[in-house]
Amino acid sequence: MKNILVTGGAGFIGSHVVRRFVRNYPEYHIVNLDVLTYAGNLSNLSDIENAPNYSFVRADITDAAAMQTIFAKYQFDGVIHLAAESHVDRSIANPMEFIMTNIVGTVVLLNAAREIWKDNMEGKRFYHVSTDEVYGSLGETGYFTEETRYDPHSPYSSSKASSDHLVRAYHDTYGLPIVISNCSNNYGSYQFPEKLIPLAINNIHQGKNIPVYGKGENIRDWLFVEDHAVAIDVIYHSGKNGDTYNVGGHNEWKNIDLIHVLCKIMDRKLDRAEGTSAGLITYVKDRAGHDLRYAIDSGKLQRELGWNPSLQFEEGLERTVDWYLDNQKWMDEVTTGDYKNYYERQYQLR
Ligand code: NAD
Ligand code: TYD
Repeated sequence: MKNILVTGGAGFIGSHVVRRFVRNYPEYHIVNLDVLTYAGNLSNLSDIENAPNYSFVRADITDAAAMQTIFAKYQFDGVIHLAAESHVDRSIANPMEFIMTNIVGTVVLLNAAREIWKDNMEGKRFYHVSTDEVYGSLGETGYFTEETRYDPHSPYSSSKASSDHLVRAYHDTYGLPIVISNCSNNYGSYQFPEKLIPLAINNIHQGKNIPVYGKGENIRDWLFVEDHAVAIDVIYHSGKNGDTYNVGGHNEWKNIDLIHVLCKIMDRKLDRAEGTSAGLITYVKDRAGHDLRYAIDSGKLQRELGWNPSLQFEEGLERTVDWYLDNQKWMDEVTTGDYKNYYERQYQLR
């Protein structure tokens, strides 16, 4: 049985990746390593937690001694690295946590992999999951390709850019077998409600204001999280050693247009008169350094590995709304405690 490490498996995307690999690959033993920050939640995986090919280890990827011990114990064949601090607004408030986890933590993992693979790298793979935000911001036209120059603007995107460079450096310098993907904004179930879509769903449900930064004209390219998990599966198994793949939905939305679609769906689901939810839209102070537009050209992944997004946005959004409305207990659990303090700090100032 191959041991595969997934870091950050208790988070949003990580939990979908762990679930997919545990269910589809009984021949793999999936070790989910996560320190369980505010964003990590083991209840995201309650449906597979007793699977015979799944284990959970609570540990911090910045703890080099712990990583060496865990890598020595499991002798991983592959690593799928998702653990990160992931929210731009938190990175603006507190950059150092992003430097520690996203940069230092990644190097600690690279060192641990290098150590156990140094005598034989055949069949091994270190897969670094990254973001399109490393490319910076687009104007009205154009797309990010794998050749686009890195130009990050937030502490979050800068820390991810730095980790991407380090992963490539370990390939070029030490021959570590690596692959990287840079994906656009994800949405779907189990996303922590600090990110736009679950935050808006939760606020509408509670009759609270929907905070829209600036004029709401920033554009994001949205991808259903389960389609990203499929892309990660395909790239992990078939991506070329040392290569980078962009992953995106070909699905650009201005924030304010997206919010209006969401408001309509919510009015219908909650049997409210049309226009009720849109009445909650509140324009607030813009994010510092707010990137205008992200849009991914995922042609390489489509041509070379045959991946395509499976869902239309309206259908994905509808499914996502249904999931949050059906899982109010999950929402209540994750929005108590630390999140309440974060929310007050973040939005009272705006
Ligand atoms: P998330 O914030 O939901 O989850 C991150 C997970 O990492 C949490 O479970 C957390 O407990 C864990 N973690 C954080 N610090 C850790 C540490 N020091 N040691 C061990 N575990 C730690 O994030 P997400 O949205 O699921 O993103 C996962 C990855 O995908 C990140 O690397 C992110 O940069 C990348 N990504 C995210 C998106 C998106 O739209 N969410 C898009 C592209 C790429
Ligand atoms: P977010 O979900 O934080 O993802 P990212 O910043 O990584 O793209 O934000 C998506 C977009 O929505 C971004 O342009 C910022 C905007 N936004 C709001 O307008 N209001 C909010 O409360 C949040 C969290 C985001």
